[in-house]
Amino acid sequence: MKIACIGTGFVGVVTTAVFASHGHEVAGLDIDENKVASLSKGQVPFFEPGLNELLNKTLVSGNLTFTTSYQEAITDAEIILIMVGTPSAADGQADLKYVLATAESMAPYLKEDAIVVIKSTVPPGTNKKIEKILKQKAKVSFTTASVPEFLREGTAVEDTLHPSRVVIGSTNKKAADKLAQLHRPLSDRIIVMKPESAQMSKYAANTYLATRITFINQVADLCEKNGADIQEVIAGIGEDSRIGDHYWYPGFGYGGSCFPKDVSELAAYSRAVGESDNLMNKVHDLNQARTPYLMEKLGKKVGGWKNKKVAILGLSFKPNTDDTREAPSIAIINHLQQNGAEVTGFDPMAKWRGDSTNFSQKESVVEAVAEADVIIAVIEWPEIVSFDFSKTKLDKQQFFIDGRNQFEPSILINNNYTYLGIGRK
Ligand code: UGA
Repeated sequence: MKIACIGTGFVGVVTTAVFASHGHEVAGLDIDENKVASLSKGQVPFFEPGLNELLNKTLVSGNLTFTTSYQEAITDAEIILIMVGTPSAADGQADLKYVLATAESMAPYLKEDAIVVIKSTVPPGTNKKIEKILKQKAKVSFTTASVPEFLREGTAVEDTLHPSRVVIGSTNKKAADKLAQLHRPLSDRIIVMKPESAQMSKYAANTYLATRITFINQVADLCEKNGADIQEVIAGIGEDSRIGDHYWYPGFGYGGSCFPKDVSELAAYSRAVGESDNLMNKVHDLNQARTPYLMEKLGKKVGGWKNKKVAILGLSFKPNTDDTREAPSIAIINHLQQNGAEVTGFDPMAKWRGDSTNFSQKESVVEAVAEADVIIAVIEWPEIVSFDFSKTKLDKQQFFIDGRNQFEPSILINNNYTYLGIGRK
């Protein structure tokens, strides 16, 4: 099939490479000339395991091209996937200006029966808005659909090649069948529904997962009040197949470019439709308060942050990405800077881009912890979790804060660290 992908951000690059690798003719479009130039040379502007290799393989095959021209990308395209950004607007809802602008730009070039698919995360009702714009300028008949994206950073290539499900929001049978045909080689779990249901599915999935994390973080706090161990509690509840023991790491709260944004957008949407007193409106605030609350509590346990040398291990928002958007490390480091600590940081991929007052980024765990009074293991990077901290133990009291409960407490305690986990003694 001939496919145009509009927007070469994270989802856009992964999607273009995956569909091209499946033999489709894919044109990736972006209005940013520099991005188009570097992607055409096979250079991915961010770190994502396996993506560079896949992109270069498909470029060589000739199935994939990048362009800044709508005419070039759209004229022959049977399917157009919109994957541009939807930053949050002042009222907290998704700002649709880029999505609507793509509709405006592509309309004159649409081919007869083209299917225009929104993959960006947008509120229910957005299809009608783009249809209105397209109708004003399109010379042909077309249809719109919604196919939300469920990939995760760090495993994006794998998630796109083998998605847990493909949700197709379309009430047009012919279009839904064609989109199912496109996705069938990737998954046999294809669910067709109304576009509004597809868009709600995306918001509901992310908000549910964010709520789950917030819930387990709060249970962990209760465990600390009574001597229970959150990891034992997770084992105790996880055997119930309705609950499960996966996706249950308590810690400094969720981050990234999706959960914080999608949860607050769904909350803003619910307020806009007159449903303000609901769970969605609470989850974001609880997550925002998470790191300041923990840093305050941990500060008391380590005897105050002032003049403490603190090593932060893991600056990205999760392992296997260099993305620091809404990463817990930001609020942690800011708290430490405001409270007079001297901070070192290490991350296998991510760079610290915030205020560098009393902060220096190191190239290894060894360098980061070299003088530390307190070590905070924030993110479960394999390089951090597998590190042997007995080798770097100093001859002074050192606190080890296991921000993801990834370490065996007894090993650290036997090496004379003062161990502090999340929701466990
Ligand atoms: C998330 C969803 O998992 C994807 O399904 C979705 O497609 C994507 O958002 C999106 O909307 O584009 P992602 O943000 O890449 O993917 O990362 P996750 O692995 O879900 O983690 C999100 C945050 O929750 C991270 O900060 C992570 O450290 C945190 N987390 C995750 C926890 O605190 N505890 C957990 O048990 C799991």
